Amino acid sequence: MSSPTSSPTTVITNIASLVTNDPSLGWGSPRSSKFESGGRSPLGLIQDAAVVIEGDRIAWTGESRKAPATDNRVDAGGRAVVPGFVDSHSHLVFAGDRTQEFNARMSGRPYSAGGIRTTVAATRAASDAELERNLTRYLAEALRQGTTTFETKSGYGLTVEDESRALRIASRHTDEVTYMGAHIVSPDYADDPAAYVALVTGDMLNACAPYARWIDVFCEKGAFDGDQARAILTAGKAAGLHPRIHANQLSYGPGVQLAVELDAASADHCTHLTDADIDALANSATVATLLPGAEFSTRAEWPNARRLLDAGVTVALSTDCNPGSSFTSSVPFCIALAVRDMGMTPDEAVWSATAGGAAALRRTDIGHLTPGAYADLAFLDAPSHVHLAYRPGVPLVSEVWRRGVRKV
Ligand code: NIG
Ligand code: FE
Repeated sequence: MSSPTSSPTTVITNIASLVTNDPSLGWGSPRSSKFESGGRSPLGLIQDAAVVIEGDRIAWTGESRKAPATDNRVDAGGRAVVPGFVDSHSHLVFAGDRTQEFNARMSGRPYSAGGIRTTVAATRAASDAELERNLTRYLAEALRQGTTTFETKSGYGLTVEDESRALRIASRHTDEVTYMGAHIVSPDYADDPAAYVALVTGDMLNACAPYARWIDVFCEKGAFDGDQARAILTAGKAAGLHPRIHANQLSYGPGVQLAVELDAASADHCTHLTDADIDALANSATVATLLPGAEFSTRAEWPNARRLLDAGVTVALSTDCNPGSSFTSSVPFCIALAVRDMGMTPDEAVWSATAGGAAALRRTDIGHLTPGAYADLAFLDAPSHVHLAYRPGVPLVSEVWRRGVRKV
């Protein structure tokens, strides 16, 4: 299938079931809920499938017996293959951990944004090399569990220097970098939050914007209110960053409406939503990114994915990996929680963790396995993607390819 000028081609055959996320291609599992309306699932499932990779891209997908001739051949051995997970929300530039805080929470103490200060102190005290070592460790952990694209944020520095170095380090490992100087008001500005907002929208933004694609704000009691969040995201937009927002996590609030008003790519958490919030999301291009690791680890009420999906909202699922509220890098774990406790079907959860994550990052080149997309794939030691929820806690991801190269 390759010409002398093109990259070598590889066919992966004997795939028991392949999730392409191409709705025109195939049928989903039985009872695919909202996806069933037209009788088709957007998973674009192909049974007994093959994938052809050319260079770093998908060149062909279809039934194994129809696969074209290629330079190389790989036998999937009857495993399932899904698009690599797109983890569109993590906080991985940090030092230290918060074991004690977690322990206290599991003995009944509630979660509050204030714990972020512990990680800010540890992160400021760490060297660049330590921060990068930590980051790469968690990235390797995520890759082993099938994550081939991740977004990550600053937000544990809260000074011009510490925020910009976090982003500089992150930008060496991903294109999806988010400036989040507005995680909480820096403890150095506890008496003058307005001055901190001025810093976040001024010198800090100028120092950080060159390393980031996105800007994020924690819009919550104890962090930033709606007016402060609007000022910060608007300043970010003027500096060429695109907004996303931590919204409605711990309480009802203005975050989701603000996300829609500013055309944020994503409103993240969405645990406490009014009907008006849901209507606003359903009539917008803003994705609702659900982060069940946070509710698990803070023993909080689950976000209601069913309500969002039934209203027609695009839902993404991500880890929120951070040392405070959700110290998991496992997208499969989040899929299992979303299916068990948030009203998602396995098809919906797998779609949300792949194509949904891509939508939350406004990317069309990842999250699906159709010709032209990046060849990012995860092999499961299972006959179908449903096992990601059916066999919770089992390390089913047995092989991972990124950009056409086997990584795990
Ligand atoms: O997404 N909500 C704000 N930020 C993180 C928590 C960070 C922390 O507790 O360190 C979150 O849950
Ligand atoms: Fe977060």
